Amino acid sequence: MSVKILMVCLGNICRSPLAEGILASKLPINKFIVDSAGTGSWHIGHSPDKRSIEVAKKNKLDISNQKGRQFKIKDFEDFDYIYVMDSSNYDDIIALSQNSTHTSKVQLILDELFPDEKVDVPDPYYGTNNGFDLVYKMLDQACDIIANKLISEHP
Ligand code: 4NP
Repeated sequence: MSVKILMVCLGNICRSPLAEGILASKLPINKFIVDSAGTGSWHIGHSPDKRSIEVAKKNKLDISNQKGRQFKIKDFEDFDYIYVMDSSNYDDIIALSQNSTHTSKVQLILDELFPDEKVDVPDPYYGTNNGFDLVYKMLDQACDIIANKLISEHP
């Protein structure tokens, strides 16, 4: 059975599509499934933001085939690990959780890089392209740690 990891942000067009693409590129596809979702409903069915597609492309990743979807309660059952991009995503997801098994799956993604410091991946949506480069770097570093952990915990 595959180990399933879900990346969550607000719109599912900027940060979590990048997180999905980056983590998937670091894991063997036969054992791990990576997906992403947004807490909001504005971008259901939409492609990632073109600035996310561009920064991914610059780093040799193609995320252009992804389609936005909204987080749903069933995701707590379907996924083993749920990484959120910022503390407001965390609060929104925890508010939907129904038991401690659900809540224990949810983690702020940058806790992997900066344990217990509650650092957010900044939302680049209203900013410049620089913001997307920074987001890419943060996610790439966090996903290196996550991939190493997942591979060692699920040999
Ligand atoms: P994301 O960024 O959560 O990283 O996908 C956003 C994208 C769209 C909106 C907000 C944040 N929006 O309000 O439409």
